[in-house]
Amino acid sequence: MKGVILAGGLATRLYPLTHATNKHLLPIYSKPMIYYPIETLVKAGITEIMIIVSGPHSGQFIQILKNGKELGLKHLEYAYQENPKGGIADALSLAEDFADNKPITVILGDNTTDADISQAVNSFESGAYVFLKKVSDPARFGVPRFDANDPSKIAEIIEKPKDPPSDYAVTGLYMYDKNVFDYIKQCDPNSAGRGELEITEVNNFYVKKGALRWAELNGYWLDAGTFDTLLMANIYWAKKISPQTDTLIKNT
Ligand code: DAU
Repeated sequence: MKGVILAGGLATRLYPLTHATNKHLLPIYSKPMIYYPIETLVKAGITEIMIIVSGPHSGQFIQILKNGKELGLKHLEYAYQENPKGGIADALSLAEDFADNKPITVILGDNTTDADISQAVNSFESGAYVFLKKVSDPARFGVPRFDANDPSKIAEIIEKPKDPPSDYAVTGLYMYDKNVFDYIKQCDPNSAGRGELEITEVNNFYVKKGALRWAELNGYWLDAGTFDTLLMANIYWAKKISPQTDTLIKNT
């Protein structure tokens, strides 16, 4: 399967850090943030990747990643999202030719995880597949409402609900069949009031067709898009990559 990493957007939540560079190139311990989603895909056997970039610092991706060989990629290409606030689904629409009518795995560039998604990737055939994670602050995310009669089914996903219907976040890892691009074309930029094409609306098209499946993500997961979660991601990965850092952190 091919993979798509969405690394556009302006990351205004991280100003002033993101005045000088793109969020996905900020450090998480010893590596730029974008390395983590690339490594998640490579671990799952995905070595043909498209990265969607946007905004004033797009050129820096090539300086850092080059052709991706050092990270184990066989093929790396880039697409430029003209409107950096177009939304996640707008960014994904640029991968239509790259996907070539075949299924794709998609990961948001600010999501870091140590989960191994190989099994789900290898068995994916059609529809859509999302990974959920239990969180203490679901209102920050897309949140599933489970079917009252069959709690194994997602009845709806609500983007950043004021009153979350469950304590699960829909993580930024998704698998889609070729229909995803038709659903994106039907999206309403104001479905969640942000003026963006929302990936949650795309996922809800699959829910309505009875074609959305899910699993709980088995491992650590964090969306590093705020100051606090960026710090938490740094601490987690520092401890994991370099165990002696744990003592350093405790002594700080
Ligand atoms: O992290 C998981 C959450 O990500 C999900 O639970 C939500 O359903 C989903 O909407 C998303 O929420 P965020 O508010 O965190 O999305 P954000 O705007 O921060 O964008 C996430 C990534 O998507 C970002 O790192 C880069 C990429 N992106 C975003 C936008 C708005 C683009 O490539 N282009 C864009 O226009």
